[in-house]
Amino acid sequence: MQHEAQARSYLDRMTTIEKIGQLNLLAAGEGLATGAGAETPLARRLDDGMIGAVFGIKSLASAKAMQERAVRGSRLGIPLFFAEDVIHGHRTVFPLPVALACSWDMDLIEETAHFAAREAASEGLNQVFAPMIDVSRDPRWGRVAESPGEDPFLAGRIAAATVRGFQGTDPSEQDRVAACLKHFVAYGATQSGRDYDNASMALEDLLTVHLRPFADGVTAGAASVMAAFNAVNKVPMHANGDLIEGWLRSGQGFDGLMVSDYTGVMELTAHGIGNRDAAVIRALLAGVDMDMVGEDYLHALPQLAENGIDAADSGLSLGADEVLDLIDRACLRVLTFKARVGLLDDPFARLGGSVATPPRDEGLALAQKAAAQSAVLLHNNGVLPLSGEANPALVGPFVADRANMLGTWAVSGDAREVRTLQEAMEDITGRALPTAFGANIVDEPWLVDRLNVHGQTVSFDDRDPDDMIAEALDAARDADVVIAAVGEAKEHAGESSSRLVPDLPFPQRELLRALSRTGKPLIVLVFAGRPLALGPEVNDADAVIYCWHGGLRGPDGVADLVFGRSNPSGRLATTLPAHPAQTPLHHSEEATGRPDPGRFQKFRTGWLDLPDGFRGYPFGFGLGYSEIEYGTPVVNSAQISGDGQLQVHVEVMNTGSREQLETVQLYLSDPVAWITRPARWLADFRQVRIAPGATERVAFTITRGMLSYWVAPSLANATLEWDPGEFQIHIGPNSRDTKTVSLQWLE
Ligand code: NOJ
Repeated sequence: MQHEAQARSYLDRMTTIEKIGQLNLLAAGEGLATGAGAETPLARRLDDGMIGAVFGIKSLASAKAMQERAVRGSRLGIPLFFAEDVIHGHRTVFPLPVALACSWDMDLIEETAHFAAREAASEGLNQVFAPMIDVSRDPRWGRVAESPGEDPFLAGRIAAATVRGFQGTDPSEQDRVAACLKHFVAYGATQSGRDYDNASMALEDLLTVHLRPFADGVTAGAASVMAAFNAVNKVPMHANGDLIEGWLRSGQGFDGLMVSDYTGVMELTAHGIGNRDAAVIRALLAGVDMDMVGEDYLHALPQLAENGIDAADSGLSLGADEVLDLIDRACLRVLTFKARVGLLDDPFARLGGSVATPPRDEGLALAQKAAAQSAVLLHNNGVLPLSGEANPALVGPFVADRANMLGTWAVSGDAREVRTLQEAMEDITGRALPTAFGANIVDEPWLVDRLNVHGQTVSFDDRDPDDMIAEALDAARDADVVIAAVGEAKEHAGESSSRLVPDLPFPQRELLRALSRTGKPLIVLVFAGRPLALGPEVNDADAVIYCWHGGLRGPDGVADLVFGRSNPSGRLATTLPAHPAQTPLHHSEEATGRPDPGRFQKFRTGWLDLPDGFRGYPFGFGLGYSEIEYGTPVVNSAQISGDGQLQVHVEVMNTGSREQLETVQLYLSDPVAWITRPARWLADFRQVRIAPGATERVAFTITRGMLSYWVAPSLANATLEWDPGEFQIHIGPNSRDTKTVSLQWLE
């Protein structure tokens, strides 16, 4: 309220044109010359007071110069706010968000977000376009890389932890920034895994799966939200008032700033909802307060504010007064946001160099730890961990790679600071190791060009592939174990990088086939931005670690695991498909009338051409170097009624010889309900450190709310329902290998 009052004191004195200027959010653009002399389109906007915020500044000096110019250019001295895509770290690049999600460690996730906030704030930034909390169940979609994975409960916990890490209790504090939940909503469910496409689904799925993390992020206090490019059930999200003004603001109490995505307002016309005037009014009506990059608000609103709009073909008729009210509403939210991040008290508070940059060593150590905790050990026949005396050969296109290790959204990272896998491993062994490139990442030159769109990260070796494989075999000749580093380039994943076939590219599979024929133990390290269908070449290796793209210290974190300096604890936040065409998929599938029996059976759900026994890996799966055994869950009462609470516990034993960080997962099912329900869903989890030989008792509380579900004839009439009767509790180390207890919960 106090921020709104401060904002209102400006609004009351502003002209309509000044208000429209505040709704304009522009990119700094590469090579922007700042300071007194510069004459760029952006500089003109600053001088004219026709801009509310800038994203993508690259230095404190540039931010300061822009702020001086903006304050001078605005009659009332209203400052800009500065934003940036800080998705998995800022200068210190952490593992991809989907990788960090595999840590299931909310303290770690909060800590990485806080570190990124400290770096961002020290460069003058006020807002970060993160966390991205689109539940992603389609491995073809490149933006899985930025996502929290496939599960809404885990995504919600991650949303809250990241918001806490960025904002603390107050985003105006010197080491904090405002979070921006994105992309609102269901962007992860787009048709065929194609980026920018639309999504249609039952409202029950929208509420249960895609809106859930946004509810959790809003509860955690997120100060802003970004609209998604897609339509949901035929209404483009930049024009979706039912979801933005309705569900988000009225329903969840969101009182922050809503920004468009990049040219998202302009794109409403291509979506087919009308010309620019109609697009602008639809977006404002829906509750999109700021227009990113397109400048359609800036160009169209002055006229619309004078004349109103009468566009029968778009179903719009608003008088000038109504348009003015919409402009006021949006502008008040922009100014309130500025008040909330402290800019209306002092536009230069974090621009004078007084906000300390956090120590780099601290960030790099955190990055290394995060990389080790994010990697998932999928398979190990005992070859791992290697002893310091082992004599490995390092083979594959990622052995000496820097740029791809950064991952897709490292806009402020510097690949030169990445330590390669070879460097990390040679540091540990203390000697030079035999290495070979082995295979190109991909063998299609046109694809190499596409992967190098943001600068060269993929080099193409035009030697005969057989010669490269022969070189790899040569490197392996005197080794006692072969470590193969394979996977995807950074631009294989991320925005506008949907893949038809999410598998390991052909030349790398050929390399693995040749290596496995040597008979030497083979350890496969998969560096990727999405969940890949690994195929037999990987699955039949002696050990497999899914390393993702781990950021500046990704290879060091992985090397720590390989040599047993850390014990793997990562658990998959996305199912790994058995076959690349098995998409979309996730662990929480709905029950069908003809359930999948786990192998092909005519007239049952399944795939005719998927061989039986083809291996994928379930959600929540991951191994460590110790042996863990689960007891059967025990409930404190097998029958309960009303609004009570139920306690359930399980004994988890470490029968191996190393301490293990274990993620104990709790799933629920409701065998009888009014509508079809997921066969099981993740309802809670706990992480415990278990000493060798020790047993930990892990307890959970089950409330009735955890068993209720949405029934939604329409969004406005959605209700949370609950049926008395039988429920099942499943507890285990992943979504598949659980033990079950049943109970009766009565009216
Ligand atoms: C488009 C992306 O969808 C969004 O995630 C990002 O924040 C903006 N561009 C700004 O870079």
